[in-house]
Amino acid sequence: MSDDLTGALEQAAAQAREAARAARSLDELEEVRTAHLGRKGALTALLRQIGTLPPEKRGAFGKLANERKREVEEQFAGRERELAAARLRSVLDFDPTTPGPRPARGHEHPVLAMLREIEDIFISMGFLVLAGPEVETEYYNFEALNIPEHHPARDLQDTFWMETGAECRWVLRTHTSPMQVRALERFGAPLRAIVPGRVYRNETLDATHEATFHQVEGLMVDRGVSVAHMKGVMAAFLERLFGQKIVIRLRPHYFPFVEPGFELDFGCVFCGGAGCAICKRSGWIEILGCGLVHPRVLRAGGVDAEEFTGFAFGVGVERLVMMRHSIEDIRHFHSGSLRFFEQF
Ligand code: DAH
Repeated sequence: MSDDLTGALEQAAAQAREAARAARSLDELEEVRTAHLGRKGALTALLRQIGTLPPEKRGAFGKLANERKREVEEQFAGRERELAAARLRSVLDFDPTTPGPRPARGHEHPVLAMLREIEDIFISMGFLVLAGPEVETEYYNFEALNIPEHHPARDLQDTFWMETGAECRWVLRTHTSPMQVRALERFGAPLRAIVPGRVYRNETLDATHEATFHQVEGLMVDRGVSVAHMKGVMAAFLERLFGQKIVIRLRPHYFPFVEPGFELDFGCVFCGGAGCAICKRSGWIEILGCGLVHPRVLRAGGVDAEEFTGFAFGVGVERLVMMRHSIEDIRHFHSGSLRFFEQF
């Protein structure tokens, strides 16, 4: 019986000493100490059993038990000194003047960077930068821009229709042009403004078509504004953007909200007009739609179309970024792929 107890004592003492050695912190050491030496500790429970021994065995076992307990306590005290010293060292070793780790810095999305650049160019020419709603009414997206219902021009823009509201129908704007009318209503004429923003088309996606992309709309309305002003402003814009002298040409094109309307090409800045992959060997790059604001659009904006004329343009932003960086697929922009974005 007492031999069993002696065996159990030796085991409990050894375990307690091992646990003390293994403790990695002062807090942990305290926990371990309670588990072995506390009121409900394993070693304590054994010591309590001295009373159950026959009187002639108590003396020897009691002596051994107290010796083991003292050894265990010494082990704990020793470990406590070690851990306290280590903590002190770590405090002294800490150099508060060492610079902290630098957080990894991201950068602007290449489309956003292009938008900022375009904004800067037009701000320098006295244009306001306006934002408009991406969920737009049928009226502003189409009707006010001289695109009536059932007119074939509506089919040129595959539209995301929203659940119909009670008073009007809502769309995800298919272009930034609705802001022409909103801006005229709000600010009147004369007016110079651009509208950078996100637009939506219900389209089949491929390397050159995304359902979500960006445009910058431009509008300049004043007395006597002509195609000559439009060409001058467009040339200034493109020259600033590409950092070199450029030539532009206008080709007649139908857009319902301008008259006359044009597609504007510029002489390829990548091959100097000789013909390359970017200009598809033509020497010209089609870049934007533009024209003189249709009198109906001016009137929709509350502007006297006898007194004022203006020009408008709309340019796709992703195309510009793709051209600048030779990006072959528009779908990269929404890929979220760091392998793509870290190149900019
Ligand atoms: N809104 C047209 C589109 O998304 C682009 C456009 C063409 C805008 C001619 C204009 C313009 O302001 O005059 O295709």
